[in-house]
Amino acid sequence: MFFDDRRRFLRQAANAGMAWGLTSLFGGSFLRGQTAPGTGDIARVYLDSRRIMAPLDHNLFGSFLEHLGRAIYEGIFDPGSKLSDASGFRKDVMEEVRRMGVPIIRYPGGNFVSGYNWLDGVGPKETRPRVLDKAWNSINTNQFGTNEFMAWCKAVHAEPLMGLNLGTGTPEEAAALVEYCNLDQGTKWSDLRRKHGITEPYRVKRWCLGNEMDGPWQIGHMTATEYGIKAQDAARQMRYVDPSLQLIACGSSGPFMPTYLEWDREVLEQCYEYVDGLSLHRYFTNTPQDTGGDSAKFLAMNLSMERQIDETVAVCDLVRGHKRSPKKLWLSFDEWNVWYRARSGDATNGHHQETPHLLEEVYNLEDALLVGGLVNSLLRHADRVKVACLAQLINVIAPIMTNASGLFRQTIYYPYNWGLQYARGSVLNLLVESPTYEVSNMGQVPSVDVAGTLNPQDGKVALFILNRELSKPRVVELNWQDKTPGQVLVSTTLTGADLKAFNTFETPEKVAPQAFAKPATTNNRTRFEVPPRSYTAIQWSA
Ligand code: AHR
Repeated sequence: MFFDDRRRFLRQAANAGMAWGLTSLFGGSFLRGQTAPGTGDIARVYLDSRRIMAPLDHNLFGSFLEHLGRAIYEGIFDPGSKLSDASGFRKDVMEEVRRMGVPIIRYPGGNFVSGYNWLDGVGPKETRPRVLDKAWNSINTNQFGTNEFMAWCKAVHAEPLMGLNLGTGTPEEAAALVEYCNLDQGTKWSDLRRKHGITEPYRVKRWCLGNEMDGPWQIGHMTATEYGIKAQDAARQMRYVDPSLQLIACGSSGPFMPTYLEWDREVLEQCYEYVDGLSLHRYFTNTPQDTGGDSAKFLAMNLSMERQIDETVAVCDLVRGHKRSPKKLWLSFDEWNVWYRARSGDATNGHHQETPHLLEEVYNLEDALLVGGLVNSLLRHADRVKVACLAQLINVIAPIMTNASGLFRQTIYYPYNWGLQYARGSVLNLLVESPTYEVSNMGQVPSVDVAGTLNPQDGKVALFILNRELSKPRVVELNWQDKTPGQVLVSTTLTGADLKAFNTFETPEKVAPQAFAKPATTNNRTRFEVPPRSYTAIQWSA
């Protein structure tokens, strides 16, 4: 089943008037939450360390590796390469991922997981089968499987977020994988792991119960009720093996689905008591149909991620009410990114090759700016979103690209990495007064989008500022309500004259962060000017 099926589905949905058009997406005002229209040209931000939105779960900056294209093979695992270690792991990639400190990584899919038999990927490598992966029409040699992934996660200090096959796979097979991974010994599957040379159980905590099971493109696609019952059964069997698991039910594939929210409600009516979280996915596009190529509109799209989160939370809490349950679900936004160029034809069809170049999206400056906005949106929803995964990590719709001799960072690497490096502790409930601008079909959108964190442990404050204005710099004034910031530790911005500029192996730093003049604070006020088309990170000491 090729990914083109999803495109075809979307086209049909749009023709039938089912797609989530921008007008319906943005029917209301954008001046939501703590953003108010500003007076004049200045954006004012009010920071108060007593106004905390939520503790920040660092897993908000997770990522994703699927058996797809060159993500695993050639990406992180390349036994023939001079850049690899004795296990076949690319050392340069491991070093980069370690430096970023990616906390949690989802694996092995994605669409791939819905046809994957995990038993094909364990045991002696010479007996592992070459399998046709029907999701991406590619060959999987199975030389990299569960044990290799666990070893790689350990090497990069990341927690695994394991995906389960609830497409062709059964709840019994899902529970068997939990037993293989998490039980010490003395049972069929834990003893098999030991036979495979792994004595210590991995004790994997978080598991995704399937992937995008609402999508007609998904192997094993089913109705919400069928999926809800299957997820409940899988969860029950898995918890018999290990009651400490945290389980994530498969939510709607996105607002473009005709069953958006209704799928989530029906699924949760079946399995609310058995799961801890619900998944969301979203890929943003900048096509003539979606944004008309209007960059100002594209840069506002992170606000529609917020609406998707709010609506999904509402459904979770509706079912909670129906069930009279004391438990509140959290959300796992386990696939999010910009993706619209490498999304059809040969870019999604592996033609029975082992390492086809699939989904190798080339990211430009404006994509990176939106990714910055998306980081801000996730931070602003840290009260309910506890896990989120930038989809994906290496080579496939990815911040990092490899070839035989090295790697380079795509534009989207930078805003994601700033979230990883500087967002710490708790998310601040900022009051932002911003000038606005008019976007067709969307109304007034704030020019300046700000999110921030305060780490109660070391007193550091970090702010992340997106200036959506395409041609105007903006003065930003920070008003420190109850504390004076210390020294500026980090001050950096991503900007440029050409929104379409991108990096390559030949010009890896065409779009790269620039030093941003450290802003001074006087009388608890900090004033500075952010450039047009920019995303800026500033961190202060206590
Ligand atoms: O990340 C690429 C694909 O996008 C995943 O396999 C699927 O879950 C989603 O539709």
